[in-house]
Amino acid sequence: MTQRIIEIDSPNFVTEQQLESPANFATLFANHNPLCLEIGCGIGDFITQLAALYPQRNFLAIDIYNKGCYRTCRRIDTAGLVNIRVMRIEARFLLDRYLAMNSLAAIYINCPDPWPKKRHRRRRLVNRDFLQSLLYYLQPGGELFFSTDFTDYAEQVAPLIDELQGYENQRTKLPDTIPGDYPRSKYMRRFIEKDQPIHFIHCKKLESCTGGSHLLNPVNAGFRTSWSSLQHG
Ligand SMILES: C[S@@+](CC[C@H](N)C(=O)[O-])C[C@H]1O[C@@H](n2cnc3c(N)ncnc32)[C@H](O)[C@@H]1O
Repeated sequence: MTQRIIEIDSPNFVTEQQLESPANFATLFANHNPLCLEIGCGIGDFITQLAALYPQRNFLAIDIYNKGCYRTCRRIDTAGLVNIRVMRIEARFLLDRYLAMNSLAAIYINCPDPWPKKRHRRRRLVNRDFLQSLLYYLQPGGELFFSTDFTDYAEQVAPLIDELQGYENQRTKLPDTIPGDYPRSKYMRRFIEKDQPIHFIHCKKLESCTGGSHLLNPVNAGFRTSWSSLQHG
């Protein structure tokens, strides 16, 4: 069944047609504040809380889910926040096509699709190659936040943070429990209400790290690489 695409006319919704390659985010936000990226923003409850906490930062919230982008824009517009832009775009495609080396002050990934079946785990977004490529896009000292309700996913990601040698863990444990002042997303709340743990990773790109790899083959099974035909949604 094809889902109806909701047209998004929010001024905070950005289409690919509005971007150069690489994108000029200072023009998009009309300032030079540090740029942070949320991958898989869902309905936007996390990013609206975060952006309200950090008005001196710019936030790009992306998702491949049209209704999620629509609801995220509605929240932003209702809250009157001026430091978030939303794009319906696949994460690896966005990074590869539109982001420059060392361009991100922070990356947030909350409760990404867990792909719980063993045979599907290769579809997980956050793996060795992806973490390696994020080092390319994070600025030195830039932060990576990852949370998951899925123990096996946390156990897969945590050792990679040590092994890759470009990251520095910011918590006493790896993975850790979620800190009290980290905004809760819809999925986090859902699991917390059921008394299920959220596993949390917070690390920084080492100041001395010059590495990272410029991506990845963004063409992965199950993901469209271009959303350009969906100009308004
Ligand atoms: C399980 S939901 C979590 C949503 C939100 N982060 C939360 O914690 O409530 C995962 C979200 O990531 C989006 N997503 C999955 N893979 C993605 C990708 N490769 N690029 C962008 N968004 C993606 C999905 O469409 C979905 O909205």
